[in-house]
Amino acid sequence: MTIKINKKQIIVALDMDSEHEVEAILDLLDPSLYRVKVGKQLFMNLGPKIIKKINNLGFEVFLDLKLHDIPNTVSKALGNILSLNLWMTNIHLSGGKEMVEASVQKIKEFGNETLLVGVTVLTSLNDKNMEEIGFYKNVEETTLSSAKFGKDIGIDGVVASLDNVSEIKSNFGNDFLVVTPGIRMQQDDQDQKRSGSLFDAIQFGSDFVVIGRELTQAKDKDEVIHQFNSLIV
Ligand code: C5P
Repeated sequence: MTIKINKKQIIVALDMDSEHEVEAILDLLDPSLYRVKVGKQLFMNLGPKIIKKINNLGFEVFLDLKLHDIPNTVSKALGNILSLNLWMTNIHLSGGKEMVEASVQKIKEFGNETLLVGVTVLTSLNDKNMEEIGFYKNVEETTLSSAKFGKDIGIDGVVASLDNVSEIKSNFGNDFLVVTPGIRMQQDDQDQKRSGSLFDAIQFGSDFVVIGRELTQAKDKDEVIHQFNSLIV
């Protein structure tokens, strides 16, 4: 069994420092097939001008700053990025309901189409980390409870690990978007799927998959793109 990926379902993470490195990756990508993600690393070095440049090349941008601060600060920060013609941006749901409400309100006031998704629990955290931080719920429980209040307040979806995609979809419906980061190419033998594979993400119902180092650090980037392209319908 093979998988099919929709056009623009793959988001390539531009986790790099320079315009030169960004151009080298964008040269390999067709903007009608891929979206791209700009995170803290790139944005802190090059700022809004790199978003404009990427947009001018025809790519839709997910600005992944995972905003997390008091409601007023997050709302003002959002106000400063919403004019950048973003396809999607995000906030941390652990900032609490009031912060999420202020964010949703800011997007409404701004009146543009930017999608707002919430980070549930970072995929780099496990139950032990949750306990160390002082969260009394585990990863799964926190993911579901934060997704619930996020949806109730009006965000468009969540960023969540592969492990929680099916549950989020069954609890909150298919229209509630799930973006899954940390995706790796599936193994050749599909009977031995590993957690985090592209195959699993698509099967479980992720709306968007984020591919970072799997492409950007690959020795043969053309080959990786070729493999992705062959799955896109
Ligand atoms: O290189 P790799 O594919 O592991 O990159 C994952 C990307 O997804 C990074 O840009 C990271 O910031 C992002 N990420 C995320 N939310 C998470 C975990 C990772 O947006 N919960």
